[in-house]
Amino acid sequence: MSDLGFLALSLALGTTTYSIVSLALGIRKGDEGLAAAGKRAIYASAVFLTLAVVALIYVLLARDFQVEYVASHTSRDLALPYTLSALWAGQEGSLLFWAWLLSVYATALVLSGRRAGHILTSYSSLVVSCVLAFFLLLVIFVNNPFQRLDFVPSDGLGMNPLLQNPAMIWHPPIVYLGYVGFTVPFALTLAVLLSGKMEDPYVPLVRRWTLLSWLCLGVGTVLGAQWAYVELGWGGYWGWDPVENASLLPWLTGTALIHSLMMRRGRGAIKLSHIVLVVGTFALCIFGTFVTRSGMISSVHAFAVSRIGLYFLAFLLSVVVASVLLTFTRRSGLRGDDESESLVSRPTALWVTIVLLLAATAAILLGTLFPLVSDTLNVALTTDYFNTSSALILGPLILLMGICPFTTWKGGDSRGLSRRLIAPLIGALVTGAALLLLGLRDAFGVVAFSVCAFVIVGTLLQFYSGFRGSRRGSEGNRLSGFVSSLRKQRSRYGGYVVHLGIVMITIGVVGSSAYKIEESITLDPSAMRTVGGYTLRYEEFSYLPAVGKDVATATLAVYEGGEQVAVLRPEKHFHHSSQQPVSEVAIRSTLKEDLYVALTGWEDASQRIALEVIVSPLVVWIWIGGGVLLVGAVLAFWPARRAEGAEDLAVDPSRASEGRPTGEEGQR
Ligand code: HEM
Ligand code: HEM
Repeated sequence: MSDLGFLALSLALGTTTYSIVSLALGIRKGDEGLAAAGKRAIYASAVFLTLAVVALIYVLLARDFQVEYVASHTSRDLALPYTLSALWAGQEGSLLFWAWLLSVYATALVLSGRRAGHILTSYSSLVVSCVLAFFLLLVIFVNNPFQRLDFVPSDGLGMNPLLQNPAMIWHPPIVYLGYVGFTVPFALTLAVLLSGKMEDPYVPLVRRWTLLSWLCLGVGTVLGAQWAYVELGWGGYWGWDPVENASLLPWLTGTALIHSLMMRRGRGAIKLSHIVLVVGTFALCIFGTFVTRSGMISSVHAFAVSRIGLYFLAFLLSVVVASVLLTFTRRSGLRGDDESESLVSRPTALWVTIVLLLAATAAILLGTLFPLVSDTLNVALTTDYFNTSSALILGPLILLMGICPFTTWKGGDSRGLSRRLIAPLIGALVTGAALLLLGLRDAFGVVAFSVCAFVIVGTLLQFYSGFRGSRRGSEGNRLSGFVSSLRKQRSRYGGYVVHLGIVMITIGVVGSSAYKIEESITLDPSAMRTVGGYTLRYEEFSYLPAVGKDVATATLAVYEGGEQVAVLRPEKHFHHSSQQPVSEVAIRSTLKEDLYVALTGWEDASQRIALEVIVSPLVVWIWIGGGVLLVGAVLAFWPARRAEGAEDLAVDPSRASEGRPTGEEGQR
């Protein structure tokens, strides 16, 4: 089966090469038949890559340990879901998975282009095929997942115990869906530059692809943070590790891109800001992969380190150089960006948003690269640098999120804007006062939560005014009219729901970082200890064998206000296949706070245990915010039905118009 897998990979490289040649010649000679054959070859590449993935899954499930990848990442006692997810547990498999995803995206691009019947599809298919060829060359010649050993080991090395968590099943593939997806906006952008079709509507072509990839990257990142929280045992979810930054950076520029695509001037044609943000986002995805896999900057969760990073660096440079050169040659055809006569207007607010997002990207990128020169300069960066710089930049961004929906495209109406902001301001003041009355004396917390309240009230008001302004629906009530207007304006309301999700994440981050209580304690049997309002009573300790590991468990009764509220069982797992024990923390989660307990050690004779106890306020709002972000982004992404559909960006005239407010927009 492994030979069949390798054969499928080689055939995929053959069809991809064919598609590149055929598309290039077809475009050059204006021969539609050749170009169509090139596009069909993309389907064939997807079929062959699917076969290769199926072949790898087969050898993983069959525990064919003669295949080096299977022997390195699985073992006989590895549970079925983890055996399947071993597909992306290592370098070779994750590159194959990447190439397969890219071929699926390429197929979707060709299919969607067939409906639109656009010449740009040929160019963009050509670009995607080139990227695919790069990955196929890597998978075939540098990191072949079907490489065989010249002996058959009796068992495999097993999977890194840290990876044996349900998040292994969804975090990596969802992050990859985002990373790989950004290839499509990149390909469409290069296609516009290559073809010179600068006046064609570009925004509708790239917006949905961008939203989809951005959504996957965001959700994948939140899932990664959740995994770090429950698995790494230190009670945090974000440590500014290079791999973490690797997904945050393109997500930030992706957010800037989404907002730059909202600018209306130019009837949806490509602009310099789009090019910079699309290429920058794609380049940051490749940069992230380079960082993750090169081992150049040490990371606590880089699971696939090798010399392959150099190829990614070369690829990154080619992407940037080609994009800069192409942009330069087409500079005369580029439309200007939005500008407004008034400083207080929607375009200005969006521009400030983009600048703040880019400033945050630059600050985090600098911090990520700093270890490369820290030895020479004899200065080390701590997480304080990241915390402070991102709070200083992203704080104003959150505030702006509350102001922006009240601005108008034409602007100029500062008094009207101030009037519209009174209710959110009252919301912020009431929240600040309530927090002070409740005894919160910390200026950072009072200001941060008040800003969040400002945005929440402002955003909810948008929904309320939409509700009030909607006509009665078919059932004669206003609610059904509002639901119908929600459906028609999915993109707008989806954006607001995303904003609410971001505010929830902010509340969770502020609460859990500024007000965390952390104590390392030891307990003798039956002893009690109080941490942050919770009393822990040590009930019992056990050390028992389980499948493939030994498990140490401490049982603790938890009391709050004199009443027992939970029984927590933090564990430590000793996998037979690994030297390193893994903490399985116990968490009692409420909307108010998490009680997080990790078992850090024990004495056999006395059964005394050592625990790390953390009370983390509001942390659950990060995961809830992630869910809300998902809902909002799906709402914004979902195509509106044509009949309803003025709001569908694929045909959205309001986004393409030169600042002429339409529909409800006109009322604001
Ligand atoms: C805040 C937390 C996290 C973020 C932002 C994050 C981000 C990422 C990114 C960007 C990738 C793709 C890397 C690439 O191949 O180019 C990735 C892959 C992966 N992540 Fe995470 N991650 C997080 C937490 C974790 C944790 C806690 C684990 C496991 C303990 C983990 C396991 C993996 C695995 C196994 C892969 C696929 C293999 C690889 O590419 O290294 N991640 N993650
Ligand atoms: C991290 C911060 C932010 C994130 C993740 C975010 C995300 C989003 C998303 C996904 C959309 C939907 C886009 C679409 O349908 O094409 C959206 C819409 C929007 N965002 Fe943001 N945004 C953020 C900050 C801001 C800020 C600071 C502003 C202020 C200028 C802003 C203004 C808007 C506006 C005006 C809309 C469109 C609503 C409409 O169509 O009327 N966003 N946002």
